[in-house]
Amino acid sequence: MLWALVLWYTDDSFFDTVLVVALLMVPMTAVSMRFMKAPYGRFAAKRGWLAVNARLGWMLMELPATLVFWPCFLSGPRACETVPMILAGIWGIHYLNRGFVFPYLIRVPKRGGATFGLPVWGTGIVVTSMHGYLNGTFFSRLGQHFTEEWLADPRFLFGVALYAAGLLLNIHSDAILRNLRTREEVERGDKVYRIPRGGGFAFVSNPQYLGELMCWTGFTLFTWSLPGVFILTLSAANLVPRAVETHRWYLERFPDYPRSRRALVPFLY
Ligand SMILES: NC(=O)c1ccc[n+]([C@@H]2O[C@H](COP(=O)([O-])OP(=O)(O)OC[C@H]3O[C@@H](n4cnc5c(N)ncnc54)[C@H](OP(=O)(O)O)[C@@H]3O)[C@@H](O)[C@H]2O)c1
Repeated sequence: MLWALVLWYTDDSFFDTVLVVALLMVPMTAVSMRFMKAPYGRFAAKRGWLAVNARLGWMLMELPATLVFWPCFLSGPRACETVPMILAGIWGIHYLNRGFVFPYLIRVPKRGGATFGLPVWGTGIVVTSMHGYLNGTFFSRLGQHFTEEWLADPRFLFGVALYAAGLLLNIHSDAILRNLRTREEVERGDKVYRIPRGGGFAFVSNPQYLGELMCWTGFTLFTWSLPGVFILTLSAANLVPRAVETHRWYLERFPDYPRSRRALVPFLY
């Protein structure tokens, strides 16, 4: 009976069990984000428990997306087929940026930069481990629709286009934010915040989050999978409230903040 309960999506009960646990994390996160702000960066607790700086925090959180994904993917029977290889290539690009390039370039003030407490990086490790396992296994072992015909499917084509547009917006917006702090300020330990301008910031306060959510929407479409739904909805549960809080924070902190900007969705929200 229990066996039948966990075999609900694929023919692999361990995979289906991890998927259930992952999907349950989404409503739990959405509810907890109603009562708290994820305590890192500008919303970090004064003294985070086992806090590390943002560079190390990001690397720790995102490392499983590489270390767990690749063994799962490469051990699958279809790892050398065209579509699984394309999906893995997109994954590789995404986590090369988020796990290594982004943390390497981030400007962390020399003093007061330890803003990632254990609850943040610990939860991050759990999430990216499940995310890496679910997708590595699905791409090369369990996803039945990843045949050559999938390359001409509108869900694949539109999903990849949306993902690419989201990634460009995300990377460009991350770069604008990074450059708001000069290297000298970082060296001195000054934690300076300024109004970001240009690119997607002409329309919203959080184009980096909008780009991220476009990426995961595209990913969900081009993989047409529940592991995609998991990471999209979990990201939305985190980033939508954070976008609203960040927008409010800018309006309260900067009297000259552009009033026409929205929090996350141009002209709407
Ligand atoms: N998929 C997901 O669930 C998920 C979750 C979180 C983040 N992300 C992605 O990770 C990336 C980073 O996001 P994040 O939440 O760490 O925050 P963020 O607000 O985008 O901050 C990124 C960096 O820019 C600095 N910064 C931000 N606003 C600034 C300003 N006005 N003036 C000066 N410096 C500023 C931050 O400094 P401080 O650290 O001092 O604030 C931090 O070093 C984004 O691309 C996001 O989409 C994804």
